[in-house]
Amino acid sequence: MSAQRKFERTLVTGALPYANGHIHLGHIAGAYLPADVYVRYKRLIGERVLFVCGSDEYGVPITLTALKEGISPNEVIDRYHTANADAFAGLGISFDIYGRTSWPLHTETTQAFFKNLYDGGYVEKQEMELWYSAQSDRFLPDRYVKGTCPKCGFDEATGDECERCGAQYSAHDLVDPHANIPGDSSTPELRKTVHWFLRLQDFTERLKPWLDSHPEWRANVKGIAYGWVNDLRSRCITRDTDWGVPIPLDDPDAAGKRFYVWFDNAIGYVTNTRRWGIDTRGDEQAWEEWWKDSGTRLLHFLGKDNVPFHTVMFPAYLMGQGDYILPDNVIGNEYLNIMNHETGKEEKGSKSKGNMISVRWLTAHFSTDAIRYYLCAIMPESRDAAFDWDEFLNRYNGELCDVVGNFVHRSLTMTVKNFDGRVPTPGPLDEADQALLDSLPQQLDEVAESLENFRFRQALERFIEIGRKANQYFDTKQPWVTRKTDLERTGTTLYCCCQVCRTLCTAMAPFVPEGAARLAALLGVALPAGGPDGGEDGWNAAKSGLPADSPLQKPEVLFPKLDKDVVDELAEEHARGEAF
Ligand code: MF3
Ligand code: ZN
Repeated sequence: MSAQRKFERTLVTGALPYANGHIHLGHIAGAYLPADVYVRYKRLIGERVLFVCGSDEYGVPITLTALKEGISPNEVIDRYHTANADAFAGLGISFDIYGRTSWPLHTETTQAFFKNLYDGGYVEKQEMELWYSAQSDRFLPDRYVKGTCPKCGFDEATGDECERCGAQYSAHDLVDPHANIPGDSSTPELRKTVHWFLRLQDFTERLKPWLDSHPEWRANVKGIAYGWVNDLRSRCITRDTDWGVPIPLDDPDAAGKRFYVWFDNAIGYVTNTRRWGIDTRGDEQAWEEWWKDSGTRLLHFLGKDNVPFHTVMFPAYLMGQGDYILPDNVIGNEYLNIMNHETGKEEKGSKSKGNMISVRWLTAHFSTDAIRYYLCAIMPESRDAAFDWDEFLNRYNGELCDVVGNFVHRSLTMTVKNFDGRVPTPGPLDEADQALLDSLPQQLDEVAESLENFRFRQALERFIEIGRKANQYFDTKQPWVTRKTDLERTGTTLYCCCQVCRTLCTAMAPFVPEGAARLAALLGVALPAGGPDGGEDGWNAAKSGLPADSPLQKPEVLFPKLDKDVVDELAEEHARGEAF
């Protein structure tokens, strides 16, 4: 079973966000943060891991934004590519590469993918009728046409798909269609045209046993995948637009058409891996082992709306290449809603409601660690979760600051003061000391086990639990009392506490990297950087502890507390729709 198989390297992807808007908290909690926590853990344990992401830069929404703002699509993608790369960096999301689908290298990669599918006989040309605006003299792909959904009556439905009820229909069935282009809301007509379709049904017999071979996937992901795989049909992979990857066919029908964004975008993972190899290694072939060697474990992290694409469509593209590996797991998350305090209800984040929280706004006001901690604590793994300002304050202050930060602070302060800035030499260990020391490697293994199984909330709870147990120990041993009567006993207690600090430093590193780096500096230990080539096992190195007499720095506050007044004020700003 693949869960037990030992892989040589792990390739982690985060779904490529559209360069058509700012990254918000829903994106982070649903894809990039769990991926980043996982990758940081893998780097620390010394395994080879590569983390690939980038902007998704084609598609109709981007040309519509450009039309609305009177700028070019290139200006749109440049703006959001840069803004989103910065926002990710501000949250410590540590991609090895953040690429772009507008790169010429991506055109080359996509066209090569298409060629292989075409030569394999998986692509067919079909005649079809599509909406055409005489006023604008163009076909109306996707959101360029709107009308009323034939199934549910939603009046903002687009050409062949309803955003509200999820129905897919043929263009004929859209009720009351009208063009949706700035300056053109004319009633379109149906015109014959030709497009290219991928015969997804040809992959059904390979997709099913492959899905069957992965009982370890999350139930929500498998459910969605099976729902799709039993009903596969030819899917149109081209559009009437000039914004996209050109179709590499010598065919007059290809004029004015490009690949559909949902054909090229995931291929961006491959493009960006190629770019990474060229830029960091000067090696044109470095990418290949990551995509073609069966020793690679490919993991896709994404929100649930992207699950069908990554469990069925993209794997079919990969199967059609002949020599690519398939994903070993698809970690699909549910949604992060927003708690509305006026109504006491959770609501979906939406632009029109003005309740979204952008990453750039949030990182301007709060530390990376505070945001990461809270989002990990409520990560929407198997059901939706909601961002709540009071809970943000309470969990960060009450858990990370009060349990972990406070334990580290009081332990190190007393140690530095009473033992000359060094880890004390322990005297005889009693039962409680021994039990505490014995529990540390095991607790670290439990955090690792949760991370290996993509149970991030559980991993975080187990990390906090280390701090909880340590505080109980500290309170029982009362080193602030024994200090006056029994210095040896106090030294033994604080020796044990220093060992807990060493374990906490490692256990916290994937979640709250800034605090972990500060603590590592206080303890004088290294958290190895690791990466695509692997490295030292800095995770299990924590188990050998901090030797007596090691020098310590006078502690600073690892996790500054959030001020309730500040949080309340920002919550109000958010309620006014100003958090974006
Ligand atoms: N841009 C898409 C979205 O935001 C995700 C694309 S994922 C990819 O929903 F793998 F296809 F790139
Ligand atoms: Zn509908």
